[in-house]
Amino acid sequence: MSLLDTHMVGAARARLRHTQARMRENNARFGAWFNRVMPKGLFARSLIIIVTPMVILQSVLAFVFMERHYNTVTRRLSAAVSQDITAVADLAVNFPTPEDQERIRQIAQTAMGLTVEFLPGERLPAPGPKPFFSILDSAFTSELGKRLGRPFWTDTVGKSNLLEVRVQLDGTVMRVFARRSQAYLSNSHIFLVWMVGTSLVLLAVAILFLRNQIKPIEALADAAIAFGKGRDVTGFRPRGAREVRGAALAFLEMRRRIERQIEQRTTMLAGVSHDMRTILTRFKLELALIGDTVETEALRKDVDELQSMLEAYLAFARDDTGETPVSVDVSRIIDDTRFNAERHGARVTASFTGDDPMVMLRPDAFRRCLANLAANAWRHGTRIAITGTRDERWLTITVDDDGPGIPPDRRDDVFRPFVRLDDARNQDAGGSGLGLTIARDAARSHGGDVTLGESPLGGLRATVRIPV
Ligand SMILES: Nc1ncnc2c1ncn2[C@@H]1O[C@H](COP(=O)(O)OP(=O)(O)OP(=O)(O)O)[C@@H](O)[C@H]1O
Ligand SMILES: [Mg+2]
Repeated sequence: MSLLDTHMVGAARARLRHTQARMRENNARFGAWFNRVMPKGLFARSLIIIVTPMVILQSVLAFVFMERHYNTVTRRLSAAVSQDITAVADLAVNFPTPEDQERIRQIAQTAMGLTVEFLPGERLPAPGPKPFFSILDSAFTSELGKRLGRPFWTDTVGKSNLLEVRVQLDGTVMRVFARRSQAYLSNSHIFLVWMVGTSLVLLAVAILFLRNQIKPIEALADAAIAFGKGRDVTGFRPRGAREVRGAALAFLEMRRRIERQIEQRTTMLAGVSHDMRTILTRFKLELALIGDTVETEALRKDVDELQSMLEAYLAFARDDTGETPVSVDVSRIIDDTRFNAERHGARVTASFTGDDPMVMLRPDAFRRCLANLAANAWRHGTRIAITGTRDERWLTITVDDDGPGIPPDRRDDVFRPFVRLDDARNQDAGGSGLGLTIARDAARSHGGDVTLGESPLGGLRATVRIPV
């Protein structure tokens, strides 16, 4: 290959690549547009899947019918009638006596179905307006023009079911009436009426069936959403097509397993805590029997701490059992939380924005969540800001403080039970390290979560987000 060839091939390749890239880009743009324009719901989509082929099929059918069948037949019929008229006109020219014309009139009437009159001394009227879209008019006029070879005038649009033709003969005008149906495939609109009518019936049936198929899917989605938010799912039964029913059964099975797991965890925690409490009580008794020394003093403090930890654990284990969600006023809960924090000497601001403060929540769990976050805030800071916002999807509550905050790499750890960062700096504050665990647990039981970040006040910002 010469240098020039190589160069040309290279240029062609580059062009090809460029074209390909443009096509890909166009495809992507078309795909995005298509996704935007297409309806989002399953119902509408399935309906389109059914209706589109139906409309295409019927349009093609209608077109082929109109174009081929209807046109040809009309043209043939028009040709036949114009042949007859031409024959009658020729006869009338060749046999002009009144007796002959009377004969011709009769033959035309009986053999060809044409009503003929001769109007001696008349002239053709001025041509009428052409109908805008009429196969009959154009076919008939052109067939007549091809055969007749004389001046003529037609009226195909009149309201009656007759066609009128006037032909200029030598000295007379021959007026012919023919039935429209002789020259024209009438009643063809019945075909279209049937077509549209049956499609409407089909559409109605499709809508009915689809509605019933889609209802179980919607019910399943609703049940899954409610379960995710920790709400009760009542009256949900698998229904509908086999696949949908399978999905519903799988969902029910999953829910049962999750519930069983939660229950197991709760029972186990409660059992462990309870057993240990018994032993701790024995411990205390024995310590009391030994009497007060320096060593037992330290030991008693340890036992007390252990006991308060266990109490906290027990409370935690009891937490998420059995509370049912009700509609509660979130702004009230925020106000209460502020009030409690103020009692502990913090300066607190609280606000709520949103149209509707009523949200479906487990009130006790939610209060506990906010109370724990607020307790952390007043324990570590002096200024607290609590804000609540509600939009159509989320309830968001932030609790800010001006304390030392938590370094980003520890923000995950502190959610674990009994993890405390401030043993050294805040020993006598006496937390058990369960506060954030409980808060997150409560938020998650509503299908939401608690996250930590930096506050504009300088300390920690805890954010609770719950779907409404
Ligand atoms: N607002 C905060 N500012 C700084 N550190 C915080 C804040 N909130 C929590 N922490 C840190 O996270 C740790 C865990 O908090 P958590 O609420 O789980 O337990 P606790 O407050 O120590 O005990 P409890 O809440 O059970 O009384 C705390 O020990 C503290 O070190
Ligand atoms: Mg705490």
